[in-house]
Order: sequence, then C-alpha cells, then structure tokens
Amino acid sequence: MSDSVSDYEFNHKHLLGLADYSKEDILYVLDQARSFREILDRPVPKVPTLRDKTIVNLFYENSTRTRLSFELAQKRMGADVVNFSSSNSSTKKGESLKDTIRNISSMKIDMVVVRHESPGVPHFLTQCVDAAILNAGDGAHEHPTQALLDMFTMQQIHQNLKGKKIAIIGDIAYSRVVRSNMIGLKKLGAEVVLCGPKTLMPPFVKEYGVEVSYDLEETLAWCDVAMALRIQLERQGNATELFPSLREYHERFGIKLEHLDKYPDFKIMHPGPINRGVEMESEVADSERAVILDQVTNGVAVRMAVLYLLSGGNRV
Ligand code: CP
Repeated sequence: MSDSVSDYEFNHKHLLGLADYSKEDILYVLDQARSFREILDRPVPKVPTLRDKTIVNLFYENSTRTRLSFELAQKRMGADVVNFSSSNSSTKKGESLKDTIRNISSMKIDMVVVRHESPGVPHFLTQCVDAAILNAGDGAHEHPTQALLDMFTMQQIHQNLKGKKIAIIGDIAYSRVVRSNMIGLKKLGAEVVLCGPKTLMPPFVKEYGVEVSYDLEETLAWCDVAMALRIQLERQGNATELFPSLREYHERFGIKLEHLDKYPDFKIMHPGPINRGVEMESEVADSERAVILDQVTNGVAVRMAVLYLLSGGNRV
C-alpha cells in the first residue's frame, strides 16, 4: 500500500494517542496535512474552516513549539481561541483539574488541547466534558501530534516510509515523543532502532517491535533518518544516577560533525527543544542535513489537519 489514502472515513472524536489510530487513520491525517501545508505557503495562509469553533489550549507544562503551533493553526482556520496557563490560573489557589475543565466547559467550548505532566490526563478529560480532547503531551506517555509531524517530515524526504530505517537516539525512558513515534512508524511499516545508554532504555520497548542498539556509530551507519531526543532532566529526578555527566553522554551518544562526513546519507531530526552540545553539536543542528525547522513548520499544517478532522471536517 502506498503512503497515501483517499475517500477514507475518519471516525474519531479525540486524539489521545496514536495507539488508538490505525495505519489508515494516520495516513489520512498526513494526507490532509499536505493540503494544509500548501495553504500555509499561500500569500494569505488562512481558511475559514473552524470559524464557528471555540478552542481552549490548556497548558499545565511549559511549551514553545506545540503551544504556539496549535494556536497558530487555530487562528489560521478562524477559530476563537483562549489560552490557559496553569502558572497564572486558579490552579495556584488549589482548584482541581476536574473543576477547572468543567468551569471552562461551561463557557461553551468545542475542543481542548491539553498538555500535562501526568500521563492519562487527556483520557481523564474525556470523562469530564463533551468537548473533543487533543493530547499535546502527557508526561512520558504520548505526544501524538509531534509524531505525526515527524512522520510528515520523513514523508517529505522519503515519500513511503515502509522499510525506511529510522533511528531514535537518546533518552528513551522518559520520552513521550519516542512512544508515539514507535507506534506510528511501526504502523507505517518503518524499521525502527532505538539507541541510547542502557540506563535510559526500558525493557518494554521490545514490545513495540523495535530493535535496540547501544552503539551510536553502528546506528548512524544503518539509518536513513536519525532523530535525537532531548535528555529529559525535568522528568529524571537525579540525572547523575543515569549517566555520569552530560559531557560523557555527548561523547558516546551526541551526533557530531565528523558523523556527517563519515555517514553521508542520513537526515537529522529533533523534536526540540535542543540541548546544543549534548544531543548534537551545535553545527550539526544548523547543518544542511538537519530538517529540524522543517519539523516546526510542518507542525502547524499537521495540527491544522488534526483540528479540522476532529471538528468533523471533510476533505480540504
Ligand atoms: N517538541 C515539543 O513538544 O516542543 P515544546 O515543548 O516546545 O512544545
């Protein structure tokens, strides 16, 4: 089957994780995103498809790319948008998540985009309100729109991802991006190798049908795409127990300029934010081999597609 679908009946109210989406669902979202990506290149990159919708962006955790690209996607589609940030909300006065979402829902909203440090919060919200819920990252569980924009970016390079060799390198244990990518990439038929320190490689990853390597050179020699992951210091507690130092981590698992010469074919991705000099040398992030800013641009189009489909839209 090719990496494109048409005339597909998309039948989801929420996007909680890619575990709930079939291969055909994922291909359909990516297909729709291609149309929105073209709209973003127009002189006036706007469509009125969400002009009767009200969306709240509910962020309990810091974000730059996800929060801004969701907001931009919503505004590009004409939605009414309100932004909630826990740091300046009544959460600080002790209001519960359930009370917060039920109060916001009383103001008549159609969709909620939520980021929270606790896994399962998007699922919980589906039990509290009628609105469509979009997971913008829940703890170390899933970050489905990130994986969708990652796969979209890989499709721009390789079209069909079946049999493509994708390496995901770094902090596997604490990453929600890797979980959504493993699920999505395996559904699209890609080969996936996870590479990182043993202390950041949980045994359960084998259940996702991926391979594991502890050797960066071997991994970079093999792959078509190398996606480096941020060391998630905020989720690790005491990072010094997991690897001796960030300098040593970079020595063993950081992508360096010398790798670009040695292995001339692989492209470099990173979901951001990058720790320059840790996951990769700064010059690697800025090199022509990196498609990191393409990922960010594509994130707006992918989020437009998801918002559109979950609002009950038909094809663009
Ligand atoms: N990739 C990603 O989720 O980045 P932000 O934390 O800036 O949203």
